[in-house]
Amino acid sequence: MESPFKADILKGKVAFITGGGSGIGFEISTQFGRHGAAVAIMGRRRHVLDAAAAALRSEGIRAFGFEGDVRKKEDAARVLEEAVKHFGKIDILVNGAAGNFLASPEDLSPNAFRTVIDIDSVGTYTMCHEALKYLKKGEQGKGPATGGLILNISATLHYTAAWYQIHVSAAKAAVDSVTRSLALEWGTDYDIRVNGIAPGPIEDTPGMRKLAPEEMQNKYSEFGPLYKLGEKWDIAMAALYLASDAGKYVNGTTLIVDGGLWLSRPRHISKEEVKKLSRVVEKKSRKSSVGVVTTSKL
Ligand code: COA
Repeated sequence: MESPFKADILKGKVAFITGGGSGIGFEISTQFGRHGAAVAIMGRRRHVLDAAAAALRSEGIRAFGFEGDVRKKEDAARVLEEAVKHFGKIDILVNGAAGNFLASPEDLSPNAFRTVIDIDSVGTYTMCHEALKYLKKGEQGKGPATGGLILNISATLHYTAAWYQIHVSAAKAAVDSVTRSLALEWGTDYDIRVNGIAPGPIEDTPGMRKLAPEEMQNKYSEFGPLYKLGEKWDIAMAALYLASDAGKYVNGTTLIVDGGLWLSRPRHISKEEVKKLSRVVEKKSRKSSVGVVTTSKL
């Protein structure tokens, strides 16, 4: 689908995107590139990075892949430094790297829980922490009064509760908290806007392939209809809005992009029944409250 934004809204910006070689991260890399940004992508697998960077470059986007694991502080520091050497600066950090799999709590070891917290929460914090010196106001490529931007990719699982994802729910709750705290502290001190995006189920992503794989599809649709799946494009457009000047007054927000799915719940009574019964119940309740008033007056 064609982007509704002008092609130069990120002109001159350099974006650094963890998990930018595949899925939602790759779509954000692509759309940021198509709207004028140079793109540094970070990931663990060299061949994925190379293929992604080559695809971006084939569209005329300045792009390069940097190998590293967000769980390792030394990788984070090295890769950010390499990106700054390559592109001259970093304006936007997108934390898209994440880990997920389905498991019930009784089958999830503390180490498995910790692994996802390490990737999603600690990894996000580590990247923010190591990127601060490039993102803050007055740094390389930034004006004395303007800083950069951080976007943390989150989820909606923890707004309520999600089956078989206790680890990811806890990890993303921490990510949202980091988003708000950094928005407060680094927004105030360094002019860095910090926001998040909470995608719903997005089709054709590694996440969906892991959480609703073909092997589980039949069973899955029995217990939880897929509702409307989103597209990677939907998330990239939200990221563009937040990263562009259109979002210049938005700080500390996690934008939910899920078609309203997290609000959905089974209808406990049909519309026809409501129509039929609501007035009857109302009449009855008025009658009984009149009764109460009359009695109390006596
Ligand atoms: N069910 C239960 N436990 C699982 C599991 C599963 N499906 N997959 C892994 N684990 C456990 C392992 O058994 C291990 O725990 P243990 O030491 O107590 O046995 C722990 O998780 C770490 O697993 P390991 O394979 O050593 O970690 P890793 O660093 O190689 O991989 C993952 C990390 C497990 C998160 C892996 O899925 C990953 O790399 N994910 C990134 C990509 C991704 O998930 N994309 C979707 C994003 S939405």
